[in-house]
Amino acid sequence: MPDLILAIFHHILVFSLFGVLFAELVLVRRGMDLATVSRVSRIDLMYGALAGLIILVGFSRAVFAAKGWTYYAHNIFFHAKIATFVLIGVLSIPPTLDYIRWRRAGTAPSDPQVASVRRLLWIEMALFPALLAFAAAMARGYGELPIH
Ligand code: HEM
Repeated sequence: MPDLILAIFHHILVFSLFGVLFAELVLVRRGMDLATVSRVSRIDLMYGALAGLIILVGFSRAVFAAKGWTYYAHNIFFHAKIATFVLIGVLSIPPTLDYIRWRRAGTAPSDPQVASVRRLLWIEMALFPALLAFAAAMARGYGELPIH
């Protein structure tokens, strides 16, 4: 039962994170105005909150529910999944800092500034399918390391 509840929350959270990322890609465009800058900043707060909750719920599943920590600790796809998640998190830092900077400056971003944020958002987006593939593989027992 706890595993089911955590699994439901885990899926809702990861779909929401993808939704937020998609919304940022739609909103961060050449010629975006200041109202859009402040909307993106607000949405980006949700991105941070969702990422934090995913870590909380994800590790709760790994430690207290599902198959137990030892199973995941010895699974290469689990480590690949966490590494990809961390990489997406690191890539999301410069856009967050840019949104704050744009809002504080009170001026709309230039085209090159928008382009550099969009590039990072696209890379985050492109890494998402890998995360899903690693999740499915680890859940099915692929990638078990022989060391115990
Ligand atoms: C955006 C990030 C993440 C995405 C997209 C994601 C996606 C998924 C998906 C789709 C599953 C279901 C796999 C299946 O049953 O076929 C899953 C399961 C799971 N995830 Fe995540 N996840 C993310 C982050 C995390 C994090 C940070 C942790 C931390 C440990 C984690 C731990 C788990 C665990 C323990 C399971 C259960 C696997 C099993 O049934 O054995 N996830 N994840």
